[in-house]
Amino acid sequence: MRAAAATRLRTDPATRAAEKLGAARRVTVITGAGVSAASGIPTFRGAGGLWKNHRPESLATAAAFARDPVTVWEWYAWRRQRIAEATPNAAHAVLARWSQRFEAFTLVTQNVDGLHEQAGTKNVVRFHGSIWRLRCTRRCGAPEWEDRNAAQRTLPRCETCGAVARPGVVWFGEEIPSEAVQAAFDALDCDVCLVAGTSSVVTPAAGLVGEARRRGAYAIEINPEATPVTGGVDLAIAGRAEEVLVEIEKRLSVKG
Ligand SMILES: NC(=O)c1ccc[n+]([C@@H]2O[C@H](COP(=O)([O-])OP(=O)(O)OC[C@H]3O[C@@H](n4cnc5c(N)ncnc54)[C@H](O)[C@@H]3O)[C@@H](O)[C@H]2O)c1
Ligand SMILES: [Zn+2]
Repeated sequence: MRAAAATRLRTDPATRAAEKLGAARRVTVITGAGVSAASGIPTFRGAGGLWKNHRPESLATAAAFARDPVTVWEWYAWRRQRIAEATPNAAHAVLARWSQRFEAFTLVTQNVDGLHEQAGTKNVVRFHGSIWRLRCTRRCGAPEWEDRNAAQRTLPRCETCGAVARPGVVWFGEEIPSEAVQAAFDALDCDVCLVAGTSSVVTPAAGLVGEARRRGAYAIEINPEATPVTGGVDLAIAGRAEEVLVEIEKRLSVKG
């Protein structure tokens, strides 16, 4: 009986993850839309990802915006409204605590919702910008600005030159800000690299965990579904981030 229980404990993935994290000094976490799912923000792919029968890939591009800025802004207004009503969930809370716990901690997120920051996470690298930032489409030189007006009905405009403004996010086909790429790649020299809630199909974010592992990190994935990186990590935990992270944290806390 005791032996069986011990075996079960040893093979419990949350315990394994806690052991690795307990011994880690440098931890890097990569997150995607799945981490915000429990806050009521729909993921892009999978159930709930569609908006008025549009696929996100057909809205989140510069070409779509040039063609039909009103529809693209309507979609963003809808998302901004959902996000404005959302609060961080248990996954955000655990990661915020971990950002204080380890000697070095970096969280690279593809999410534009700002919930990691709202939860108090230190050292967040925003790979895809922020849905609360706007920029001038004419590039008149006005710096990007903050706009928290979730329910705007008309096309927002640049206050300096009057041109239509666009969301300060990275669209498909656009470059990730170079400082974010640099910060993310610097953080891949770590002891544990944990990727949670991303379908890992959008590069370069999808390649980060593999690169961390090549550099010697222990790689963990948390996702209820298999992804292209599942076969390439040391530990794949099939489950929801808001549940699995809490389980890992409990086991970490027991060890002090
Ligand atoms: N700019 C845009 O508007 C836009 C639109 C579409 C996609 N994208 C980009 O594509 C990027 C990559 O997409 P993504 O991977 O973040 O989202 P995604 O929607 O592609 O994938 C979400 C993943 O989360 C998983 N998941 C669902 N619930 C979960 C839970 N409770 N816990 C853990 N995992 C859960 C799903 O299995 C899925 O693998 C996005 O972050 C975004 O930047 C951008
Ligand atoms: Zn302007």
